Amino acid sequence: MTPKKSHLAIAESKTSSPNTETSPKCLLPVAVAEFEGLDMRLCDDLQEAGCPMASHLKEQLAFEEFLSQLSSVFVNVKPIEVDSRIKSALQSIAKFLNIDRTGFGEVTSEGLLILQSYELPGLSPMPRVILEQEFPVYMSLIQRGEVFRMPEDLPPEASRELDYCSSTGLLSNLTIPLKSMGRVVGGFSLELYRRRVPWPEELVHRLCLVGEIFSNAIERKRTDIELRSREASLSNAHDELRQLAAKLLHAQEEERRRIAREMHDDWTQRLALLGIDVARLSNESEIPARMREPLLAMQSELVRLAEDVHALSRQLHPSILDDLGLVEALRSECSCFSRRERIAVEYVAIGGDHELPKEISLCIYRVAQEALRNIAKHAAVAEAKVSLQVSPSRLLLRVEDKGIGFDSESMRSQPGLGLSSMIERVRLIGAELTVLTSPGCGTVLKVLITIDGSTR
Ligand SMILES: Nc1ncnc2c1ncn2[C@@H]1O[C@H](COP(=O)(O)OP(=O)(O)O)[C@@H](O)[C@H]1O
Ligand SMILES: [Mg+2]
Repeated sequence: MTPKKSHLAIAESKTSSPNTETSPKCLLPVAVAEFEGLDMRLCDDLQEAGCPMASHLKEQLAFEEFLSQLSSVFVNVKPIEVDSRIKSALQSIAKFLNIDRTGFGEVTSEGLLILQSYELPGLSPMPRVILEQEFPVYMSLIQRGEVFRMPEDLPPEASRELDYCSSTGLLSNLTIPLKSMGRVVGGFSLELYRRRVPWPEELVHRLCLVGEIFSNAIERKRTDIELRSREASLSNAHDELRQLAAKLLHAQEEERRRIAREMHDDWTQRLALLGIDVARLSNESEIPARMREPLLAMQSELVRLAEDVHALSRQLHPSILDDLGLVEALRSECSCFSRRERIAVEYVAIGGDHELPKEISLCIYRVAQEALRNIAKHAAVAEAKVSLQVSPSRLLLRVEDKGIGFDSESMRSQPGLGLSSMIERVRLIGAELTVLTSPGCGTVLKVLITIDGSTR
């Protein structure tokens, strides 16, 4: 492989002509077609050839390289790593520019809170906070968002700041404000104690670019913190809502149980007694014949009323669930539903349920009850199917109809009260609810629970 020709060599060979012996050589590359940009090698060549611009170009190039390395460190930086990256960036800046102390802080209501400081051995770190009341001129300069140098840019009335410079031996300070969305959010400073430097405009401009890199990183971190705190409060609110829903469901069940017991033990008994009284009355010899028929009608109405109260009490709280278990309670619910709604229900139960915990039995019973109610209310069918499979390790309830179905996607985002309470009940027992449906294709609702030792 032939070694690559130096840029300078190209420049010289292209510009050489027979009478250039005495005329000064052009030290800059003129062979534009072959010029691949300014790089250190070209700068070295230029320096070797005695170009007066070479060392400045080298310096510039080195800074560009430094800046691009610095920005690459902050590309895709994770919010949690921002502080440590800024800390090592301050260290690299100090080393690169031969600075004695660098620091970075965020503007708060109190002043400038110094978050990172890097200093040469022997120097103390920057104070933890630069209070506004202690350094009013310095802080107002920062808040104005302008770059400033100390002591040069300090007005004569900045006595506290000037005192600070002389008491600490601070010879030169450059402070770059950090802005985010047009607001000053902080600043970073470069300080010298061993010598005074003039801080040329070009350098200040580049350090402002570093400031922008820092500002972006801080903004990212701040957004992440805000996002996390919103997520946390959202999730807290969610948890609270769920706890509340669980309490409400529990309270509702308790209330239903109480009313159901009252209806069953008290009202149905009283209605039965009333029926007996009416029957006895209708058999009395003194009762006029014309009264007998209305009394018999009253008696059968009382019997129907007692049956309705009994059925309502059973719906409110199925004591059969406690007495005979889930399999029988569902069988009874299906046949009552069938009679009441005139919808034929095929009920299939596989497996025994005697060991099922009460909260599981009640949940499955309530979900089946609501699913059947929905079939009667919405599905527009004359048949439905309910199946319950219980094995020692899992329970599967399936309620199925071949009716009009519905759009499950829109229901997922805004479920009705019935579906929401099913979801909540099922979640509370750690089960899984699936609704398979689409318009015109019927509905299959499934609840699956895995039963382990702890569930029983
Ligand atoms: N088996 C079904 N067949 C057809 N549509 C149903 C069925 N189950 C539920 N839906 C639809 O889902 C909606 C939400 O049901 P639900 O949350 O129980 O509320 P609600 O019954 O009070 O309307 C119903 O309004 C209905 O449009
Ligand atoms: Mg409903």
